[in-house]
Parts: sequence; C-alpha cells; structure tokens
Amino acid sequence: MFIEWKKDLEIGIEEIDAEHRSIIETFQKLYEKMRVGEGHELYSEIIKFLDDYVENHLMHEEKYQTEIGYDEIESHKAKHDEFRRILKELKDDKLDIVTNEELLKINQIMKDWLLHHILEVDMKIGEFVKRRNV
Ligand SMILES: [Fe+2]
Ligand SMILES: [Fe+2]
Repeated sequence: MFIEWKKDLEIGIEEIDAEHRSIIETFQKLYEKMRVGEGHELYSEIIKFLDDYVENHLMHEEKYQTEIGYDEIESHKAKHDEFRRILKELKDDKLDIVTNEELLKINQIMKDWLLHHILEVDMKIGEFVKRRNV
C-alpha cells in the first residue's frame, strides 16, 4: 500500500505533524524497497528509525499532552506503551537473516501502529486544541 503525505494526515500541531511526516516518508521508503525486492537492505535502518521515534516522538507527544492538560492522556499513553512493547519484541529478535515474513511484519506494524494511530488517536489531540480555543 502506497501512502502519501497529505493534508488529511495533519493534526494541526506543527512539530508533531513534521514528525508524523517523517514516519510516512520512512514507510514509503520501505514500501519502495520491498516492491523491488530489496526491503531486507533497509531492515536495520528501519528498526533504528522506529527506536528513535519511540524515544523522541512518543515522549514529545506525551509531554505536549501534559502541557495542554489533555483529557485523554492516560488512554493515549497506554496505546504508546503497547507500541513500545511491540518494538522491544522486534529489537529483541536480533535476526541473522531478514526474511520476507519479517519485512511484512514490520510493514504491517508501521501501518497499524503509526498510520492508524495518527489518524485515529493523535488526531484527537488536534481536535482537543481546536475545541479549547473556541
Ligand atoms: Fe504521533
Ligand atoms: Fe500518539
């Protein structure tokens, strides 16, 4: 599935949107490589990207939610923690050979945990900010 960055993905908070954009771009990069059968070359780079993402983006988003007094911070953080757990499992796998199955798994994780999370969970932060400003 090819996903392009578009306005619909913006939650309206500049810094968070910029980080989301880099997630989408990384997903595209993996998709392109997988399409030509070279996804395995990118595997460790993607794991490292996701690791940085967890360290930076999720914490950044949680800090922002605390600052604005977001009412759904607890359930949002629980979803982030679930992603942290999934990523830890991936990192602990320490693969010698990256199989197609592993590539499909990481592709799916990025889709479910990043894209759907942006659209369904992160979007609500933007809605909260808009509501509060009215
Ligand atoms: Fe996010
Ligand atoms: Fe989030």
